[in-house]
Amino acid sequence: MREIVLRKFKEIFGDVSEEGVYFAPGRVNLIGEHTDYNGGHVFPCALTIGTYAVVRPRQDNLLKFYSMNFEELGIITSSLSDLKYEKEADWTNYPKGVMWAFEQKGFHINAGMDLLLYGNIPNGSGLSSSASVEVLTGYILRDLFGFDVSNQEIALIGQFAENHFNGVNCGIMDQFSIAMGKKDHAIFLDTSDLTYEYAPILLEGAKIIIVGSNKKRGLGDSKYNERRTECETALQELQQVIGINSLGELSEELFETYKSAIKDEIRIKRAKHAVYENQRTIKAVKALKNNKIEEFGLLMNASHVSLRDDYEVTGVELDTLVEAAWNQPGVIGARMTGAGFGGCTVNIVKDEYVDQFILEVGKRYKEAIGYDADFYVVEIGDGPCKL
Ligand code: GLA
Repeated sequence: MREIVLRKFKEIFGDVSEEGVYFAPGRVNLIGEHTDYNGGHVFPCALTIGTYAVVRPRQDNLLKFYSMNFEELGIITSSLSDLKYEKEADWTNYPKGVMWAFEQKGFHINAGMDLLLYGNIPNGSGLSSSASVEVLTGYILRDLFGFDVSNQEIALIGQFAENHFNGVNCGIMDQFSIAMGKKDHAIFLDTSDLTYEYAPILLEGAKIIIVGSNKKRGLGDSKYNERRTECETALQELQQVIGINSLGELSEELFETYKSAIKDEIRIKRAKHAVYENQRTIKAVKALKNNKIEEFGLLMNASHVSLRDDYEVTGVELDTLVEAAWNQPGVIGARMTGAGFGGCTVNIVKDEYVDQFILEVGKRYKEAIGYDADFYVVEIGDGPCKL
């Protein structure tokens, strides 16, 4: 891959001096969905697929961006002295947002750059191609300008950029799991204080399969921010009757005791999901540690039901994929993953049933939805690196 992106870089920007080649992964969340902005737990992992970058600093202030995934857009030019969100700047708003965020945090970027990207995470698939680009940009800036920031701080700066530059009120899960990824491990992260633990994912005799629904979506135009507001309002209502800082502090029992303080049926459902999903995540990690993979799978399935019925972020495409998966032999667990409203599902499937799974779920999806789903047997990889 290094050679492919370098060759393209030289073709686009000329072959004049040394360039750096970098990589940041995509991520998949195994369980703990829509809990990260509710002070709950998540359990994501970085993947071996992700985004590659070739970078060369410039003598001036200009930023010249080129993506091999959007070749039709050509070179998109910007300037460090004018870092603002522009719709027509398209995907470059992600790296620009991170540069802006570094400046906001007091890190001065004193040279422009030529930057070429290539992602082998399918765009809009729900595997966090945008957070991958954000963490990659932060990692490059640290390397080029010697900024004193940890990977965890790069994740926080990436989230800050997403929230305040790109206008998506996301939590910390995506950037954190990408910046802190560890091969063959998922990250059990408590989003209330960012304490975390790596848990080995040794799926003996099974694989993680991601199924992309190919339903196009962008977080910005989804109902993501609306869900977040509903949870915040529910929290304020609960705070009238119980002293909590986040929904993640509630057990199922406490939630049932106090839920009548929430004055709207829809908000009760949203908050219920946040509370129960957090508890499910804690139980799931415990099950995994005790080698109870079947129990882990059942909790994944329950997570989907809750996202479908209480949080209402699945939609016919994701439900079709997951329900088809549940009907297949050898499926340990299946659920939507990521923000929802399209995107993808995550499935744990026993080795000997993988081919049949791909065939049957693919067939069922095409029949019901009218177009194909994409299947990826994925591996858990490390965080960002220089190649
Ligand atoms: C998106 C957001 C994350 C998280 C998930 C849902 O991926 O970027 O912060 O909220 O949705 O779990």
